[in-house]
Order: sequence, then C-alpha cells, then structure tokens
Amino acid sequence: MHPNTPSRLHELSSEEALVYSQLDPSRIPRHVAIIMDGNGRWAGKRTLKRFKGHQQGAESVQFVVETASRIDLPWLTLYAFSLENNLRRPKSEVSFLMTLLKSYLVGNVKRMNDNNVRMAYIGRTLGLPQEIQDTMQWASEETSKNTGTTLTLALNYGSRSEIVDATRSLVEKLIDEAHHRGISLEDLLQVDSLDSRIDEAQLSANLYTAHMPDPDLVIRTSGEQRISNFLLWQIAYSEIFVTDRLWPDFRGVHLLEAIENFQHRERRYGGLGEGTDEHLEGKDDALETPESIAAELLARK
Ligand code: FPP
Repeated sequence: MHPNTPSRLHELSSEEALVYSQLDPSRIPRHVAIIMDGNGRWAGKRTLKRFKGHQQGAESVQFVVETASRIDLPWLTLYAFSLENNLRRPKSEVSFLMTLLKSYLVGNVKRMNDNNVRMAYIGRTLGLPQEIQDTMQWASEETSKNTGTTLTLALNYGSRSEIVDATRSLVEKLIDEAHHRGISLEDLLQVDSLDSRIDEAQLSANLYTAHMPDPDLVIRTSGEQRISNFLLWQIAYSEIFVTDRLWPDFRGVHLLEAIENFQHRERRYGGLGEGTDEHLEGKDDALETPESIAAELLARK
C-alpha cells in the first residue's frame, strides 16, 4: 500500500470483519493465487447451462478482488483460462469465456479504479484473439497508476510452457550477448561458466512472474486436490488450501477464512519447525550416529 493510503478495513462486511478480527494483520500473505474451479458443477446442480456458472464465477472474481483490496493484499493471481482450457474445451465454451472476459474488463475497470486495483496478466496472451488482447491492454493501462492490490489474470496460461518460454528467453539472451561481443556461444560460456549464466535466480527472472513474489498461499475451490499446471515453479513452498466450495459460491469472507487457516500453518521451507526439539545450530553433539540409532532399535525389540 502507498504509505499515505488510508485503511479501508471499515468497508469489510460485518461477516468479513469478524473473520478479519481473528487475523494477525502483520502476517497477511503478500501473494494469494487461486485455482477457480467448479463453475460447471455449480450450474449443473441448478440444471443451468455451464455458461451460467462462468457468468456467476465472474461475479465471484469481483467480490474477491474487492475484499482483497480492502485488506491490502498486495498480489492476487487468478487462474482464469488455461492453455488446456483453450485446447480441450468446445469452441463455443472458449468463445463464451473470451466474451465474458471482455465484458468483465469493460464493465469493471471503473470499480478496479475505485478500489485502487491494478490489472495485469500472465500466460501466452499473444495466442488470444486480437480483440481480447486489445481490451486487456486497455484495462491494464487504465489501472496502471493504482497502488493497491495487483490483480493478475492467468490467461492462456500453462506452467510448463511458462518454464519452456523462460528457458528459451534465457538462451536467446545468451546468444544475443555472444553475438554483440562478436564471439561464439561456446566462447561466451568459456568466459562465464554455464553454472553462473543459468541458475534458479535467472530462470525466475525470465518467468512471466519475474516482477512478483512467489505465492504464499494457493487456494483451490471445488475440492479437487491438484495443481493443474499452475505456477509449478513459483509454488515450491506455498501453502495449499482446498475448499469444497464451488467458485461461483466463493466470496471475500472465504478468502479471509483461507488466510486465517494459512496463519495457523508453520512454514518450514525445508528446514526444521519452531516446535522441533532438535534445533541443530551449535548442537552437533545432539545428533545421534546411525549406529547408535540402530543399536537403540535393536534393544527395543
Ligand atoms: C473452472 O470451472 C473455471 C474456469 C474454466 C476458469 C475460471 C473462469 C471464470 C471464473 C469466469 C470468468 C473469469 C473472468 C476473469 C472474467 P469449470 O468449468 O472447470 O467447472 P467444473 O469443473 O465444475 O466443470
């Protein structure tokens, strides 16, 4: 948040304010990513066409973004349209989703500005219809000066292809550099080793998400326990929260509940947890040898 921006917590509904009061405001995640799922099932349960589920899902997007902006969540990323959706869904559904995206953007840019929300996108967006790309660009320009939540829509997005794109762009940059120096790629890699030119930091810097922190929390709606090719690299240490609630029924209060659950998790990043009695630092002598453990196990038999 911009340092002089006044708090908007008073704009939370009473239900949201109650959940928010259980949160530690100093530990609001920096980045929440959501796999929005269950639009079709929501419609099916009501004997409505799938399209109705998507329409209702677009309403949920706006509710959730506005709550995110009120609690000052810096980054919210939504999986809106995957590469697989594009390839494997009927053309009529894909074209409906595109029309819905366009009308969502056109209809909500004013509300985005009222909520200080900045729009951004990740994915192979150049593969979307030109008219949709134009509207996307317009919406991001219209909201570019906002300093609150950045809403990133993953569109025509697939994580494996993102990693492929990042690798290609890293290699292209190396080839360009060798060319500018008038030497071969092999010669360039003699000067600087491959290890120093291709590492985790440089691969991250070439992902679509280079400018964002990794998600702290990934939410998936509608009960499926899968990641579905979403931000595979970036969620290495993210907490995952799966809810049975279908996306069209998901509201800001459910985002806050997921954050409350997240705040009870202990993040370990591959290390030992706070509650572990075997803190290793300076206590090497506390480590038992494999032989002594084996002897202890034999003695227990
Ligand atoms: C999954 O529902 C959801 C999607 C295909 C993508 C999410 C799309 C929206 C929320 C609609 C519009 C979004 C914006 C940003 C305007 P599903 O059809 O896979 O549900 P099912 O698994 O129950 O069939």
